[in-house]
Amino acid sequence: MRQVLPPEYLDLGTEELEHRIQQAKAALRKRVVILGHHYQKDEVIRFADYRGDSLKLSQLAAREREAEYIVFCGVHFMAETADILTTAEQKVLLPDLAAGCSMADMADIDEVEECWDVIKGKYPDQEIIPITYVNSTAEIKAFCGRKGGMTCTSSNARAVFEKVIGEDKIILFLPDEHLGRNTGLECEIEAEEIFLWERREQDRGDQFEDHEMRAQELPVIAPRLILWNGFCSVHQRFTLEQINRARTKYPGIKVIVHPECEHTVVANSDLHGSTEYIIETVTRAPAGSSWAIGTEINLVHRLAQENPDKKIVCLNETVCMCMSMNRIHQPHLLWTLENLVQGKVVNQISVPSEIAAEAKLALERM
Ligand code: 13P
Ligand code: SF4
Repeated sequence: MRQVLPPEYLDLGTEELEHRIQQAKAALRKRVVILGHHYQKDEVIRFADYRGDSLKLSQLAAREREAEYIVFCGVHFMAETADILTTAEQKVLLPDLAAGCSMADMADIDEVEECWDVIKGKYPDQEIIPITYVNSTAEIKAFCGRKGGMTCTSSNARAVFEKVIGEDKIILFLPDEHLGRNTGLECEIEAEEIFLWERREQDRGDQFEDHEMRAQELPVIAPRLILWNGFCSVHQRFTLEQINRARTKYPGIKVIVHPECEHTVVANSDLHGSTEYIIETVTRAPAGSSWAIGTEINLVHRLAQENPDKKIVCLNETVCMCMSMNRIHQPHLLWTLENLVQGKVVNQISVPSEIAAEAKLALERM
């Protein structure tokens, strides 16, 4: 159950917030580790013991055996992954449980099971390998573990595809259509060999459909890749027009985007990769170089501040912020830490053990 921030924390000034966060961290010493995703606000990520993209943070969580508490400054699916990969004694906390992810919410487990049954029924002789982007619920990861599949992140999607691709095999990729298509095309799956599975629009009240009807929509010849049509509301907002505009406005500018962007955007960029890749590429680029970056705005602003010798702009001139990531702010972090100092755990993420065991299989295979 979500425990809500007491209102008095919202009245604190920046100086007091920062001072008390430092004090609480000092009091907890090695009992707490704070992990922060690169899309977190500066005011929060400043207090992270480690920062990273989804892959790096899951590796850090798996390695972390000392701390009693992991405070995850990120979103719900990341904290779930940390809970799955840490020991039963360690507790993972998400300072605001409302920090979800709209993309992860687009793959509902009952609907995915239904899709699986339809595909299995249509292509009985094919092996189907489910791969889920880690930006998915623990239930979806467990589904992949149970069915012999695995997870991937934006850093290793290509390597994961290359491991499983083969004759008489269908990859069912969840939940991000764009990462799936970009990776499949990179691995030389042809556009005609990719099928887009339309998920139900739950907010329109769509009901379970007739399996026969869904099966008829599938091509006679088995596709090599079936994509779930989920997407990231942040990366979906980058467009080809923005790339063209940036190239006209800043001649010679390099465009670098995240693979959660649509294929036309990725295909017309100069470089693409995970947040960690974007950071490394831009940081190592020569002084005087210019970059238009297609990813979350907190990270783009931070890169601009940390690289004053380069011209760095966001590809989308209107703000493209991940609202879920931005739910975590200093008052939440302070309240979480001060409760830990008093021996109270708020907003713990605890994945039920049977789901965690199957999800762990998928994560470990990755
Ligand atoms: P990475 O951290 O894998 O780059 O993914 C970006 C993202 O959207 C995280 O929610
Ligand atoms: Fe989800 Fe996109 Fe936000 Fe990442 S950036 S947490 S995928 S909505």
